[in-house]
Amino acid sequence: MTISPALAEELEKRRAAALAGGGAEKAAKRHAEGRMTARERLEALFSAGTFQEFGLHAQHATRHFGMEGKAIPTDAVITGAGFVDGRPVAAFSQDFGVSGGSLGEIHARKICHTLDHAMKAGVPVVGFNDSGGARIQEGVGALSAYGQVFYRNVQLSGVVPQISVIAGPCAGGAAYSPALTDFVIMTREHAQMFICGPEVIRAVTGHATTAEEIGSADVQASVAGNIHFIAESDAHAVALVHRLLSFLPSNNMLDPPHRIEPDLCVAEDPRLDELMPADAKAPFDVREVIRVLADGGDFLEVMEAFAANIVIGFGRVGGIVVGFVANQPLVKAGALDIDASDKAARFVRLCNVFNIPLVTLVDVPGFLPGVVEERRGIIRHGAKMLFAYASATVPKITVILRKAYGGAYIAMCSQDMGADLVLAWPSAEIAVMGAEGAVNILYRKELGEAEDKRARAAELAAEYRAEFASPYLSAGRLFVSDIVQPRQTRSAIALALRGLMSKRETRPPKKHGNIPL
Ligand code: HXC
Repeated sequence: MTISPALAEELEKRRAAALAGGGAEKAAKRHAEGRMTARERLEALFSAGTFQEFGLHAQHATRHFGMEGKAIPTDAVITGAGFVDGRPVAAFSQDFGVSGGSLGEIHARKICHTLDHAMKAGVPVVGFNDSGGARIQEGVGALSAYGQVFYRNVQLSGVVPQISVIAGPCAGGAAYSPALTDFVIMTREHAQMFICGPEVIRAVTGHATTAEEIGSADVQASVAGNIHFIAESDAHAVALVHRLLSFLPSNNMLDPPHRIEPDLCVAEDPRLDELMPADAKAPFDVREVIRVLADGGDFLEVMEAFAANIVIGFGRVGGIVVGFVANQPLVKAGALDIDASDKAARFVRLCNVFNIPLVTLVDVPGFLPGVVEERRGIIRHGAKMLFAYASATVPKITVILRKAYGGAYIAMCSQDMGADLVLAWPSAEIAVMGAEGAVNILYRKELGEAEDKRARAAELAAEYRAEFASPYLSAGRLFVSDIVQPRQTRSAIALALRGLMSKRETRPPKKHGNIPL
């Protein structure tokens, strides 16, 4: 039996119409702007010939405002699954060239099907968002449709990695779905994200603003903290997706893609001996330490522009994928503030949920003192770090490079937070607070009566430092497992990680903890 030529021809005709999307003119406009079409984004994501589309022949369900009978190819979103570096991945790509990529009932059903597929198959899902938001002509049906997408984003959270690319305007609901996913990548030009646009803000508050001011990639990355990466182009956004996937497991039941070498021993690295400044107060860039610790210097920093006083990101040590969390002495002396706590806590939870061991590098003078911080709730936000680390059951290795003071010492995964190994460099100082602050509190009366206050304060501070400005007191009390030369750190971490590959830590069953939000 063969398919009749007429039927075969009809299929090809329908396919061609759907594949044309918004048409050649709109595609040419995109290209002139240096941008990809929705379909080209998926072609760039997947290995050639591996994309299997779902719903190419979808028809929209809009009946009002003259929409009946109007063609909206694919209902403005291309959905399906393919392969990235040999691993299956699901994806959807909203087509702004068709009805502004607006989301109606069938459009949302296609996205939901993609998310359901990702859940069942246990594979990551990537969404290219480029949409005018809820399709106005579908009214409450479009709102409900968004609700169904959000509901699934939440069900998938912690089961399979979800990565969003913001590659055009994302207003209202179009911004909330990405916000529920694990990573948000935003293209620098042509993309904006906001809940209420400039017009709405002006109408309600009288404040004149611009889409740039409230929703540009720079604002989202550095001020709002809503996104994790800025991409310079669509192609760069896809490259970042590939990089992220190279560190993530397909789902929460699998290990991340380690690249373990048969040799158990990793060589010492003398470059680490050079990185700590002789002056205990001089700042240094902790990313240089991370780049030496990570195999081949390969470190993918996450949320680089937000709360730069803490550095987070992925690398491998001895082939094992790890999440690095490190205080950055270059910014606010590495102190923990509200934004840094939020950033680190969410990253710790992400690593935990996807079986990625944590390597924490500590050089922290404490939580940032300040009226604004206290009034904005540093207690609640700092508590997230305690909560995240104490909840994490993945292997946890902590290296105290220099200062580890007060609550921040605990919040940076001290042994009491369940660290499996705490190493310290000889330069480590572990205490309730710095010498000057401690002396002012302990000896306030004596200093008030001293003839030469400054000299006496300096003397007392030196005594305090002699006691606490070394890690031996902590090592003596077993709060630190070992003190290592910096050059021995990489090999020590690699060996410990290998020994922790089969770590099992079970907790009492519960719905979920009540993390302070
Ligand atoms: C239906 C839409 C649309 C929408 C755009 N279009 N947004 N159609 N519903 N939400 C259509 C336009 O009519 C036009 O169709 C085509 O898409 C391109 O739109 P333009 O306006 O010509 O493009 P541009 O000048 O680039 O402006 C893009 C834009 C603007 C900034 C996104 O279109 C816009 O402001 N749209 C509305 C955004 C919005 O407020 N959405 C609702 C958010 S509330 P033709 O046929 O002319 O090509 C929401 C609720 C969910 O999402 C909340 C859940 C929490």
